[in-house]
Amino acid sequence: MERRVISFNPPDISELEIDEVVETLRSGWITTGARTKLLERRLAAFIETGRADIDCDTEENTEKYSNRVVCLNSATAAEELNFRLFGIGPGDEVIVPAYTYSASASTAIHCGATVKFVDIRKDGDSATHMPEMDYDALEAAVTDKTKAIVAVDLGGIVCDYDRIFDIVERKKALFKPIESDQSILGELAARIQKSIGRIAVIADSAHSLGASRMLRKTEPYSAEKEKKYCGKTADFTDFSFHAVKNFTTGEGGASTWLPMEGIDDSEIYKMLQLLSLHGQNKDAMTKLKASSWEYDIIGPWYKCNMTDIMSAIGLRQLDRYPGILERRRTIIQRYDAVCDALGISHLNHHVDGMDSSNHLYLIRIPGIDVPERNQIIERMGRQGVATNVHYKPLPMMTAYKALGWDVKDFPNSYDYYRNLITLPLHTKLSDEDVSYVLEVLTDAVKEYL
Ligand SMILES: Cc1ncc(COP(=O)(O)O)c(C=O)c1O
Repeated sequence: MERRVISFNPPDISELEIDEVVETLRSGWITTGARTKLLERRLAAFIETGRADIDCDTEENTEKYSNRVVCLNSATAAEELNFRLFGIGPGDEVIVPAYTYSASASTAIHCGATVKFVDIRKDGDSATHMPEMDYDALEAAVTDKTKAIVAVDLGGIVCDYDRIFDIVERKKALFKPIESDQSILGELAARIQKSIGRIAVIADSAHSLGASRMLRKTEPYSAEKEKKYCGKTADFTDFSFHAVKNFTTGEGGASTWLPMEGIDDSEIYKMLQLLSLHGQNKDAMTKLKASSWEYDIIGPWYKCNMTDIMSAIGLRQLDRYPGILERRRTIIQRYDAVCDALGISHLNHHVDGMDSSNHLYLIRIPGIDVPERNQIIERMGRQGVATNVHYKPLPMMTAYKALGWDVKDFPNSYDYYRNLITLPLHTKLSDEDVSYVLEVLTDAVKEYL
């Protein structure tokens, strides 16, 4: 076979995104402005309907969809602001799967909370093979200090939120909402805690824009299920639009939340704006209006807003997103066929009632350990195929070891990691590239199968 060079996940940027960025640069407005507001509304419409083609340009159309999306500069910022909105702070515990990226846990640490890691189920979920939390271990980890559970929709596969909500309902009596500390943020956080009235479920959907799962209808608790897109599955959700994600704005992310009784969405929207822009009570557009210079700083907060240059990329990415998802799915089908024939287990991205966003293709080679896995990665690399490992469990990382965590206490996470390889999966792969990746994989693993 003729050698090819296959990158792991280059961004898919077309002339459409380039033209929109150039137009933005020429427009005289490059920071947070009209394009960001439009992207927020279009993302809200997409999350609510699964349709990316909704025109939110007119006010009438905009009004049909919620304002429950705030675009930010990363999923990390979105997750931290979601914790801040819920008033997470020192003395609180946040439960996080051991098998995830650092941002799922570090954001809780930034807020002063204590992270409690929970192991995954052995070999992941039985249908999707996604390294999903062990829900019995999760329930056992809940204490009267637990304020939030982070569920990670890893690789684009949606967690079993029905099970997680069952657990937080069962543990409701342990939850004591905070009292307002009289600050503007503390007052809102106290009302949010009272309104939710139990441990908050925070979805780390960094990988999963556009993924969906049949889940119980939200109100009231009924057995009836409906299709919920990520962004509607948990109390708060964060998305990543980082350069390696399916949908990118270079860097970027968004926060979204479910409606809360007694709290207007515009209050939360406004607070997220404040949190993301220094606590400044006028944004750049308002300040620029004639004679409108004066502003106040109402909290010493963060700087993590999305710019209109980023949103320009996002608007055109969203136009193309259904096609991007479809192409990724086609590649997955080809990977599935060969892996199944070889007896290699892989993530199942489309199972009864769950459609993933086709983000990562994780495979696990039976019967091998870390040295052989690394050898396969090197062999494939020598043939020009870049692969990756998602993830090395967090208790193996220096920072988390220093906090006292030891991967020995998370045997299922370690077991999942040690024979895992992530194959390249992106829309820059031609059909011939996919064939090449599969030939190289088949050759690299043959002595171990
Ligand atoms: C599971 C998960 N959560 C959060 C993040 C953070 O995303 P961002 O880089 O947009 O902050 C990532 C990034 O890769 C991730 O993989």
